Amino acid sequence: MNRKMDREGHQSLAGRSALITGGARNIGLAIAKEMASRGVTVAIADSCHDLETVPYALASADQLARAVDELTRLEGRAIGMLCDVRDEGQVQETVDRVIQEFGHLDILVNNAGVGSLYPIQELTEKAWNEVVDVCLKGTFLCSKFAVPPMIRQRTGRIINIASVAGLRGLGFSAHYCAAKHGVIGLTRALAVELADHGIQVLAVCPGTVESPSLQGLASQVGLEVNPYEHFSQRHLLKDRRITPRDIAEAVCWLASGECRCLTGTILTVDAGWTAQ
Ligand SMILES: NC(=O)c1ccc[n+]([C@@H]2O[C@H](COP(=O)([O-])OP(=O)(O)OC[C@H]3O[C@@H](n4cnc5c(N)ncnc54)[C@H](O)[C@@H]3O)[C@@H](O)[C@H]2O)c1
Repeated sequence: MNRKMDREGHQSLAGRSALITGGARNIGLAIAKEMASRGVTVAIADSCHDLETVPYALASADQLARAVDELTRLEGRAIGMLCDVRDEGQVQETVDRVIQEFGHLDILVNNAGVGSLYPIQELTEKAWNEVVDVCLKGTFLCSKFAVPPMIRQRTGRIINIASVAGLRGLGFSAHYCAAKHGVIGLTRALAVELADHGIQVLAVCPGTVESPSLQGLASQVGLEVNPYEHFSQRHLLKDRRITPRDIAEAVCWLASGECRCLTGTILTVDAGWTAQ
């Protein structure tokens, strides 16, 4: 891994290539922008279609196109692809296209994720499947196809966006907690399996991050208070809000040469939530 510094004093990621799922908006787009501004050639993949049991709109194809324009202005080269991470064929085509366009894949960020809030007795099989398949099966499938080129390169980083819900139980969230606990298990298992190939597998667990999804989740359970205030009640650092950029900076750090000895690491960016 390159140890040169960039203009802002970060260890340089210049010349690397990254695939970021769910990259059309919010945390995924912030990660893509932060990487592009550090010289990474970025591909973003997003399904751009809504799901029946998820109570908010997902990104649109227009948002994906605008995101690619923004990234191209930052780094000169970026691609956007429609890809549903639940679909093995689409994931394989997406990884193949990244290799075709960039010649290598150094960093995979499994960020695509959805949530919904249902008490267990009202949690339908469909609602369970939509959340578990995007968050957990999607992370499995993208890792499966990103690993062969990384093995050939003898280096790579896989960074999974889990959640505090992967470390704690939360009400009305059996499906989301199960999926995110699964992402942490997958992170540790792949860290063991891939270490001999020089591939590091890591996870970030955000607390509550500013997001367009929060209002939809709040409406689903009839919350009338400010959704960010409500969902961040357990943050200890009350004088600040976690932004997508906070998560992006943590991801870039995990992707950098500064973290050459980390694997299987679960990094919380949760304003102290899990310290309790
Ligand atoms: N916002 C938070 O408070 C928070 C907290 C902890 C963890 N997270 C996790 O961070 C990640 C990003 O969350 P966010 O707040 O930016 O959400 P978001 O809804 O703003 O963005 C998620 C993106 O994923 C895309 N997506 C959804 N299903 C997909 C699929 N099947 N295939 C490809 N793309 C798909 C959406 O279109 C959207 O662009 C998720 O994994 C989420 O679980 C978020």
